[in-house]
Amino acid sequence: MEKTFAIIKPDAVADNHIGGILAMAEAAGFKIRAAQMKHLTRKEAEGFYAVHAERPFFGELVEFMSEGPCVLLALEREDAVAKWRDVMGATNPANAAEGTVRKTYAKSVGRNCAHGSDSKENAAIELAYFFPGTALL
Ligand code: RTP
Ligand code: MG
Repeated sequence: MEKTFAIIKPDAVADNHIGGILAMAEAAGFKIRAAQMKHLTRKEAEGFYAVHAERPFFGELVEFMSEGPCVLLALEREDAVAKWRDVMGATNPANAAEGTVRKTYAKSVGRNCAHGSDSKENAAIELAYFFPGTALL
């Protein structure tokens, strides 16, 4: 069964939407295989989003992702990577479909409440980055 890596971002944790987002994941058929609350350091946030280092919003993104605790998740189901992207909705909540996580909980493109890996390759890299040495049952 396929796994993806997800984050409930600091905005959603601060606004008490952990339960709401986990409920949407479970309702969409995902098994939660690992979950950890973690306040990312700036360095961890920079490392995680290194692919965006040259983008104009990088500083703001790192600041946001390290402003408070987030929830790191390993989610499993058939076609998990693509399905979790569907359940999250578009990056900009203004463009996200009704009923998606970002339409429901995100306030803006910069503070968009959830992350999901964008490919199977990146899911494997991100799971290994945040859950090193963990047997994901
Ligand atoms: P994510 O990586 O967080 O799951 O989001 P994504 O794939 O949908 O979007 P991506 O292009 O990877 O962008 C990463 C995160 O950067 C922030 N962003 N801000 N201010 C802006 O114009 C802007 N554009 C992107 C968002 O928080 C986005 O999730
Ligand atoms: Mg992305």
